Amino acid sequence: MMIETERLRLRPFTEDDAADVYEYLHEPAVNCFASMKLDSLDEAKEAMKQRAEDAEYYFAIELKESGKIIGEIFGCPEGHEHSEDDNTADTFSPCWMLNLDYSGRGYAFEAARAYFDYLFNEKGMRRIYAYTEDYNLPSQHLCEKLGMRREGMYMEFISFVNEPDGTPHYENTMEYAILKKEWRL
Ligand SMILES: CC(C)(COP(=O)(O)OP(=O)(O)OC[C@H]1O[C@@H](n2cnc3c(N)ncnc32)[C@H](O)[C@@H]1OP(=O)(O)O)[C@@H](O)C(=O)NCCC(=O)NCCS
Repeated sequence: MMIETERLRLRPFTEDDAADVYEYLHEPAVNCFASMKLDSLDEAKEAMKQRAEDAEYYFAIELKESGKIIGEIFGCPEGHEHSEDDNTADTFSPCWMLNLDYSGRGYAFEAARAYFDYLFNEKGMRRIYAYTEDYNLPSQHLCEKLGMRREGMYMEFISFVNEPDGTPHYENTMEYAILKKEWRL
């Protein structure tokens, strides 16, 4: 699967993308991606193989003009909480991440808008929601630009990293969401 926008290609990962991904994931920009940290190029190559297995929802964000991978967007469909029927998997929570050398140029919005279009119009999603921490203003801004509504704030919701004394460092998390019938972009 490949999605084209004016300046970008969203496409499945290949092993050749390892160096570009290592560039932004040897030090993840935010705690929520701490577990995705890559410590070597070899580790990055292994990670690319895993990403490549999900060609339906896990996309590299490639700059058309240079072929460089400048980030990624991914997630998986979720069913309804109390249903055992797989056909109810119409809810989706995307994650997005740019190489911060390429932020502030509208690439995240361009990629996310195309991804939402794909999820709503080709994959039959009904609701898209995103979690973002209370201090992550760029991600909140992106949610708002995409027309998502802030639906909640969960205090000390999750811990991605530990405090220096080894106890969990809890984060306050906001939830944004948009329904297919609200999608206008
Ligand atoms: C969250 C994240 C993806 C947002 O990226 P971003 O660079 O702020 O978003 P964009 O690429 O859409 O750039 C937005 C800005 O580019 C600017 N811009 C420059 N050229 C542009 C163009 N041609 N078209 C549109 N916008 C353009 C705009 O001013 C826009 O700012 P505005 O919306 O205030 O007008 C990025 O900060 C990131 O990867 N962070 C680390 C990982 C992370 O936090 N992920 C989310 C976890 S919840």
